[in-house]
Amino acid sequence: APGGYLRPAGSPLTVIAHRGASSAAPENTLASDEVARRAGAEWIENDVQPSKDGIPHVLHDDTVNRTTNGTGAIRGLTAAQLAALDAGSWFAPQYAGARIPTLAAQLDDLRTRGGKLLLEIKGAHTRDEVARIVQDIRDHGMTDRVFVQSFEVDALRHVRDLAPELPRGLLRSTLDADPVAISAELGLAAYNPSDAALSARPGVIADLHKAGVALMVWTVDAANRWQSLEAAGVDGVITNRPAELVGWNSAF
Ligand code: G3P
Ligand code: CA
Repeated sequence: APGGYLRPAGSPLTVIAHRGASSAAPENTLASDEVARRAGAEWIENDVQPSKDGIPHVLHDDTVNRTTNGTGAIRGLTAAQLAALDAGSWFAPQYAGARIPTLAAQLDDLRTRGGKLLLEIKGAHTRDEVARIVQDIRDHGMTDRVFVQSFEVDALRHVRDLAPELPRGLLRSTLDADPVAISAELGLAAYNPSDAALSARPGVIADLHKAGVALMVWTVDAANRWQSLEAAGVDGVITNRPAELVGWNSAF
């Protein structure tokens, strides 16, 4: 429901684990999701993109080069090729054998082990590509535990049209001229600026809240910034250090 993601006065910042607990385990793997879950993060943020054969996969970069033992664009590799890659060894030897999850595997894992997913549709997606993501979420019965976000306005339009029940957030590294207007057009539950973008015009917090739109700010790892954002009234913080933010919240 609109307004359903606003933080009630006196309650702690919502903790969103960026790419899982990506400071402690390889990003965007089931291993980093599990560390985030155990730390008490309410939400796990992951990125999704299609393989060459159209299967949604959880990966941040547009290539597998940085976070696996393979090379190439994710959109140029099939699901079978992606499944053969090691997505853990680059981070630490103990994670050897970690895989790039399919979105379906990721949703299975969440359904079994718990947690909610802040799913970023990464890069431009066609309507059919968005439809495949929506289908995976629906097939897993997870529409009430997934929140979709994107920098891509067109992708969010597709989500709005295909699955109006899925809450949507717009990612921004600079603020729109009128964040309330674009929130209304896209039917946003959240407007998610970078910390730097928000600092340039903190008055948008009150404007968005008046319109029932929450703010989930990224990517913030320093306690002095958590303090400022809490005081400014933002709703959630996307962090690489979810265990530390959970601890900070409980000491606050
Ligand atoms: O969730 C916000 C943040 O993830 C956006 O930047 O590059 O980490 O996907 P990036
Ligand atoms: Ca992301």
